[in-house]
Amino acid sequence: MSAKTIVITGTASGFGQLSVRRFSEAGWNVVATVRKETDLDTHAAMENVKTLLLDVDDEQADLAFGELAQSQFGRVDALINNAGYFQSGPLEATTMDQAHRQFQTNVFGLIALNKAFIPIFREQRSGVIVNVSSISADGGYPYNSVYQASKAAVASLTEGLHAELSGFGVLVKALHPGAMATKIYSKIDGAQNVPEDYDASWKAFTSLNMILSDPEITAEAMYRMVIDGDTRKVHYYSGPDGEATPRVKQLLGQDWYFEELSARNRNEATPLWEALMPHPKSTARN
Ligand SMILES: NC(=O)c1ccc[n+]([C@@H]2O[C@H](COP(=O)([O-])OP(=O)(O)OC[C@H]3O[C@@H](n4cnc5c(N)ncnc54)[C@H](OP(=O)(O)O)[C@@H]3O)[C@@H](O)[C@H]2O)c1
Repeated sequence: MSAKTIVITGTASGFGQLSVRRFSEAGWNVVATVRKETDLDTHAAMENVKTLLLDVDDEQADLAFGELAQSQFGRVDALINNAGYFQSGPLEATTMDQAHRQFQTNVFGLIALNKAFIPIFREQRSGVIVNVSSISADGGYPYNSVYQASKAAVASLTEGLHAELSGFGVLVKALHPGAMATKIYSKIDGAQNVPEDYDASWKAFTSLNMILSDPEITAEAMYRMVIDGDTRKVHYYSGPDGEATPRVKQLLGQDWYFEELSARNRNEATPLWEALMPHPKSTARN
């Protein structure tokens, strides 16, 4: 059987870069996208990877990308919508332009790419789409409201698409990674001119001992969810904090979970929270 082909967006660093290597090493052909010309050689050492330019904010380019990707190796079997970034800070100090840009990249670009590949997968009666969401979509983190709203939109869109397309043999799945050591935290689009009123709670939140896991964990989760053939599962979680989130939420129920998470975000985690949530091993990788 000839090699399968996957398209992965946002591959200049982080999960995208690691997942290109994971699929390539497993014998897949990979169409990898980057948005800067200087990153076009990111995967140059791998023969079965073709790297193309794509800024996912460009909806016309996204909508045309299905055919362009298909022409690289003759067919496409899977798509990972990974490109995204992190807008952070209190909402009142976040401009509407920042909010629009966050949704343009994390949501509208991703919607356009789903639209580009759905007809291809529907007609061939097979295909897997992984839309990268976040554990923040499960809600309740301060100073992330626009980002987590964008990731909740991705999760909800994915549920609808799974219901819409599984009958055609097309599987659409959401990945909710926990906190992982990638470059995303060095490229935050932060709120400006934050009122002093926020100083105490901002300090409590930012002084939390947030431990970042090894992003290889997420690249492996991406690989597994593309190949597992599970036609029913929609939401996947990666990392110790990621995997604990749905379990703890189910155990406590929505309201109690929110109460416990809010206390933790004020740096007042209860012993119950400390006992239920694992503490990932830190890593320097990015
Ligand atoms: N790391 C975490 O803790 C975490 C947790 C949950 C979810 N996520 C999600 O995981 C995904 C990957 O993030 P990461 O942690 O691997 O961070 P990363 O290393 O910053 O990788 C993100 C990639 O997306 C690309 N990108 C951003 N905006 C783009 C655009 N408009 N068009 C095309 N590419 C664009 C970036 O390109 P440039 O290099 O050019 O900026 C970069 O290659 C994101 O969707 C993120 O929201 C991350």
